[in-house]
Amino acid sequence: MSLAPYRQPIRRDRVFRLLQSEPDFSGTRDGVILYVDDVSVSFDGFKALDHLSLAVDEGELRCIIGPNGAGKTTMMDVITGKTRPDSGAVYFGRDIDLLSLDEYQIARGGIGRKFQKPTVFEALTVLENIELSLASDKGTWKTLFARVDTAQARRIDEVLVTIGMQDLRHRAAGALSHGQKQWLEIGMLLMQNPRVLLVDEPVAGMTGNETERTAELLVSLAGDHTVIVVEHDMAFVRSIARRVTVLHQGTVLAEGSMNQIQADPRVVEVYLGEEE
Ligand SMILES: Nc1ncnc2c1ncn2[C@@H]1O[C@H](COP(=O)(O)OP(=O)(O)O)[C@@H](O)[C@H]1O
Ligand SMILES: [Mg+2]
Repeated sequence: MSLAPYRQPIRRDRVFRLLQSEPDFSGTRDGVILYVDDVSVSFDGFKALDHLSLAVDEGELRCIIGPNGAGKTTMMDVITGKTRPDSGAVYFGRDIDLLSLDEYQIARGGIGRKFQKPTVFEALTVLENIELSLASDKGTWKTLFARVDTAQARRIDEVLVTIGMQDLRHRAAGALSHGQKQWLEIGMLLMQNPRVLLVDEPVAGMTGNETERTAELLVSLAGDHTVIVVEHDMAFVRSIARRVTVLHQGTVLAEGSMNQIQADPRVVEVYLGEEE
């Protein structure tokens, strides 16, 4: 056997690129999976985020509430790499600096985001939509026309059961109710096995029954995943709340259990007072 390949000089630039392209997204730092540290974002001089700091534990279900314009969506934009902050830091897992990564790397690294409006493909079936979400794994749409392997098929079944849509797999997404479309999209995110799920206003426009089922779904996902939910519907927040963070003017106004939040006069003044 020739040892020739081993005698070649190590291409340090290539090794470095390889190391850089595979950041280690595993682990946590003392149980904290996501750490937003003193982040500020300005839009034309207006401070959308103003020295925002926030730590979320692995497996937590965290609710983020706050009046319109408080910076909730901007915070998600920063975490997912869509918006670059003017200052501050954001860490994920043991030591990943999210600000050094682009949106694609962050999504691939395990932070899934569910936008408010469902973006399922209406002409495709539930199953095809789920299969399509495998496509980004391989970076190709060919997945849709290829056979899924056994492990993938098992995962698809698992996810369909999780979102309660196993009997709807052959239904066109366009024929689903608004709530079902939202669950399908959560299912598509789950196919990527995200460690953190960011969910922006999941129950807006849902019926009461759909809202209840969404609460059950998000609660069931916590533990295996870290779930961060932004929501205006206070009855819904109350039904799922563990730790709640109140944002106001781009920074954390209060944090604690629902009871603690509701008893905080500052929170009542800026938010809960007008809500109820
Ligand atoms: N791209 C942008 N350009 C200018 N202003 C923005 C932009 N995104 C958000 N803002 C402003 O930043 C503030 C916070 O917005 P946002 O994060 O959407 O709040 P929330 O989601 O809590 O309602 C708002 O005043 C909003 O108008
Ligand atoms: Mg918003």
